[in-house]
Amino acid sequence: MSVRKVTVATLAALKARNEKAVFVTAYDYPTATFADRAGVDMILVGDSAAMTMLGLPSTLQIGLDEMLVFIKAVARAAKHAFVVGDLPFLSYQPSDETAIRSAGAFIAAGCDAVKCEGGSRVARRVRAMVDAGIAVMGHLGLTPQSIGQLGGYRVQGKCLAAAERLLRDAEALERAGAFAILLEAVPAETAAFVRERVGVLVYGIGAGPHVDGQLVISHDLLGNFVGDIAPRFVKRYAEVGAHVERAFSEYARDVRAGVFPGPEHCYEIDAADEALIRAARQTPAPAVGAGAGAGATP
Ligand code: KIV
Repeated sequence: MSVRKVTVATLAALKARNEKAVFVTAYDYPTATFADRAGVDMILVGDSAAMTMLGLPSTLQIGLDEMLVFIKAVARAAKHAFVVGDLPFLSYQPSDETAIRSAGAFIAAGCDAVKCEGGSRVARRVRAMVDAGIAVMGHLGLTPQSIGQLGGYRVQGKCLAAAERLLRDAEALERAGAFAILLEAVPAETAAFVRERVGVLVYGIGAGPHVDGQLVISHDLLGNFVGDIAPRFVKRYAEVGAHVERAFSEYARDVRAGVFPGPEHCYEIDAADEALIRAARQTPAPAVGAGAGAGATP
């Protein structure tokens, strides 16, 4: 059966039908394959890979080359889902040319779109990428690449003035040609306020239900994140980490007890050959290192 790839037009049609888009992160081939087979609409190859995949303290430590490895794996898996590549810190901020080159590398590696953080202050970069023919998703609210300025992973847009600032940023992104905006960690009312005032698609992660689709980090929903961050907006659907740890413990127990491998895990050969090899084992083996050249000094 042929699988239809999700496009920007598919996403717009979902919104027109008042249907929510399903959006998850993935960073590797197997996870992206399972998400794609499950029918998710969009996969974000997030710079959260820094923490979820590389054990780094924040997203500020991951670079373009590392992101490209994850992007290529996910793009190979995504037969249906729309793939968004997350531009890492300093891969788009310095200049329009840097932004176009970084985004272009992501598209060449198989992304359908790129995402970058910030509103008015990155609008010029967004316009440059859009003018180069690249679909761009903006990212507002809690923007982890600006964590130093935000003073921590805090909820954003908690009062009317802050909601209006978010709206001005969203409008700047819309004018710059972004096809969508992701709102992270904002109250549901603020997300609704922004979404009702812009024409582009608005997705949310920790932004309540009044948006065009939901994003969750796959490690948070699968239960295999190794670290202390546990956002309240996540619902856990599996305990993959606990299952994996239990499997490794049971394997270790079996190896140490000599019950793995069992006969069913061994290759069979002809009985006559087996008898000959067994008989040969009775002949004393030469001492290790006694062969020609071994250990010899010229
Ligand atoms: O990198 C990422 O996964 C993200 C989401 C947290 C929005 O940017």
